Amino acid sequence: MTNIITIDGPSGVGKGTVSLKIAKHLGWNILDSGALYRILALIAKRNQISVKDENQLVKLANELDIEFIPSDDLSKLQIIYAKQDITSEIRNEIYGSMASQIAVNAKIRTALLARQRAFYILPGLVADGRDMGTVVFPEAKYKFFLTASCEERALRRYKQLINIGIYVRLSELALEIANRDKRDSMRTTAPLVAAPDAITIDTTELSIEEVVEQILNKMVL
Ligand code: C5P
Repeated sequence: MTNIITIDGPSGVGKGTVSLKIAKHLGWNILDSGALYRILALIAKRNQISVKDENQLVKLANELDIEFIPSDDLSKLQIIYAKQDITSEIRNEIYGSMASQIAVNAKIRTALLARQRAFYILPGLVADGRDMGTVVFPEAKYKFFLTASCEERALRRYKQLINIGIYVRLSELALEIANRDKRDSMRTTAPLVAAPDAITIDTTELSIEEVVEQILNKMVL
């Protein structure tokens, strides 16, 4: 059993923020796996590659020139692709939606496996995504699955986007993330599902700090 905490769950549940806070508390490395799929989506859009072009996307996935740089206080994760800061750009829901269309493909998912596993370095890793506890790190010592009502998740994502200067309509965003969650849950490869040994936390009524506290309390390090 390795020193890995997996935090899976649907869009907008707050996994990213919670993961950063836990990683900071423990001094562990962090993997934002969704960012990998979003980066593929961004490159595909820039190069007019279809989300269905398996060969090109697998090639891109094998060659990704990316770097994740946590800020000194671990409050943010800077994402660099080919020396360019794309941290905010990939948060646009266009890339969220394209990412989930790309993410249904089993070969592309396989191409990203080794890269995701390489994020595990001592003393430990906090990994957030959809299949961290089920597929990428099934041996993780601590597995969590976060949920929240659709309304609450749309609102959280809305506030997060406004904070980084991306303006969207709440109603449209709610619809987009509902579609994305449906696609992520229904796909045959690595669907969005809690690992059998994961602890599920409904965060609808909880603050970020309360979620972090619950997770830390449930861990016996
Ligand atoms: O977490 P985030 O919203 O950035 O993820 C974007 C999309 O990437 C998800 O909707 C999902 O389709 C895909 N994804 C995935 N597996 C992961 C992380 C993200 O399929 N581990």
